Formats: sequence, C-alpha cells, structure tokens
Amino acid sequence: VTTQTTTAPPTIGVFDSGFGGLTVLRALIERLPRARFAFLGDTARLPYGSKSRRTIARYAAQSAQFLVREQGAEFLVIACNTASALALDAIQDAVTVPVLGVIEPGAAAARQASRTGDVLVIATEATVHSHAYAAACRAHGLRVLEKACPLLVPLVEEGWTDHPLTAEVIRIYLGELRAEAAAQNLHPDTLVLGCTHYPLLRPLIERSVRPGVKVIDSAESAAEAAAQLFNGRATPGCPILSESAAAGADRVGGTSSPAPQTEIHCFATDSVEKFEQMGSRFLERPVGAVELVDLGG
Ligand code: DGL
Repeated sequence: VTTQTTTAPPTIGVFDSGFGGLTVLRALIERLPRARFAFLGDTARLPYGSKSRRTIARYAAQSAQFLVREQGAEFLVIACNTASALALDAIQDAVTVPVLGVIEPGAAAARQASRTGDVLVIATEATVHSHAYAAACRAHGLRVLEKACPLLVPLVEEGWTDHPLTAEVIRIYLGELRAEAAAQNLHPDTLVLGCTHYPLLRPLIERSVRPGVKVIDSAESAAEAAAQLFNGRATPGCPILSESAAAGADRVGGTSSPAPQTEIHCFATDSVEKFEQMGSRFLERPVGAVELVDLGG
C-alpha cells in the first residue's frame, strides 16, 4: 500500500471592477481546471473606466489585498483592463505575490495576429487616456490607434448584448475609428477588445469589422499567459494545473473517481443577487453563492 499525499491546489485571485472579468475567469478555468479561484468584483465602485488614476489605484490595491490577505491568493490576475492600465504598479506595491495584468498579453497577441503591423484598440475612457495599450503595442513594434467606447459597458450591464441599438453604437464607433485610421494612413488588420465587458459583444463586433480583420480578446490572451506561467512553475509542491481534473485524480489517487468541479469562490462589494444573475452570463455557468464583502471607502 502506498501512502498518497495530495497538495492543495494554489489559489489564483482574479479581480475586476465588476463581472466583466468573469470572461477572464472562464478562460482561466479552461486552461487551469485544477486551480482554486477566488474572484472579486468591486461592483459597488464600478465603473472604474470613468475614474481618475488615483482613485482606480486605491480601489484596485484594496481589492488585491483582500484576495491575498483574506483569501490566500498566491497569484493575482487583474482581469480588468482599466485597473491593469492605470494601477498595475500600485497593485504590485500593495501585495507580495506575482501579478499579471491583461494589457501586455493583449498587445503580444495583437503582435502575433497582425500582418500589417497596424492595430486598433477599443477600451474605456481611462484605459485609452492612459495610453497603456499604445505603449505596450509600440514596444512590440506595432502602430496603434485607440478609441474610447464609453457607451458599451452600460449596454452590456443592461444585458443588451444582442440589441439592435448596441449593434448601431458599435457600427458608429468602429466607423469613426476606421476613418481616423485612414486619415493617419494606417492599414489595421487587428482589433483588440481592451475591456473585459467587450467579449460579450464579440458577435456584434465581428459583424461590424471589415472582412479579414482579426478580433483579439485580451481575456483569452491573459488566461493563456497565466497558464504558461503556472505550468512553467509546476513542481511537486505546485501541481500542473492545466491537467484535467480527472487526469489529476487518476495520477494522484490511482483511481478513476469523477472529475471534481474547479473550485470557484466569488465575492462582490455590492448586490450579490445581481452578481449571481449577471455573472452566470459572463462565466457561462452558474457562479454559485456570491459573498458580500466590504472593502471600505
Ligand atoms: N472592467 C473594466 C475594464 O476592463 C470595464 C468596466 C469599468 O469601467 O469598470 O476596463
């Protein structure tokens, strides 16, 4: 008889200003099904996208500390473009665990996708004004044009992800962006969705871009980067989290017990009912019981 020792899976903290980051969590679960996830949506203070750097940094640092100190997160994924663009430094200063934002993975994916070297980015007001995407894309040798699309987050929050009005708003924003690109003599072939709410609008956005333009979802790119980081760190004390749960059970216990569900704990700073309802749409599965937390002012 051999004695089996099982190692508890590490907790990955995932943070967003609201539920949009659940698109990142969904992509993370697909790639790291054996991790335990703690997700915090700072819904009481949403939207971050229209606030100042100082305020966003304060909110984001408090949220990160909650995930690390109270939930034991050993790694943080900032599943919010606005917080990644304006507060990555503040978050890194506030906690001692590794922190991954969504901007750099999004820019790296745009580099991979683009043939012309010209890319477009749509995001919140704050993300665009920070020019974090522009800087990250330029560092990859790309030319970039960014546009704030402030109406899109409220339309998604309203649940109008397939509404004719939303389709029209997208058509107008992307038309303006194309005209601006033409005026600057750019030939964009890639569009980065620089906001975690936008993947829910992907079908409408894809209908509005020119044929051949690739749409990059920073949620997918960030999850891919996180999975690579984790698998690179895999040791006996830090299991290979990408293994399917069933394969993991076989390897550890030598039995073919049914695959356990990935462990997910969701926290919100405002109405847990709305989070449970909206969150399931973003996550494409029930989010389970959501716990209310108070992070102060
Ligand atoms: N999560 C934000 C982002 O990805 C969008 C919502 C907000 O403005 O807070 O930029």
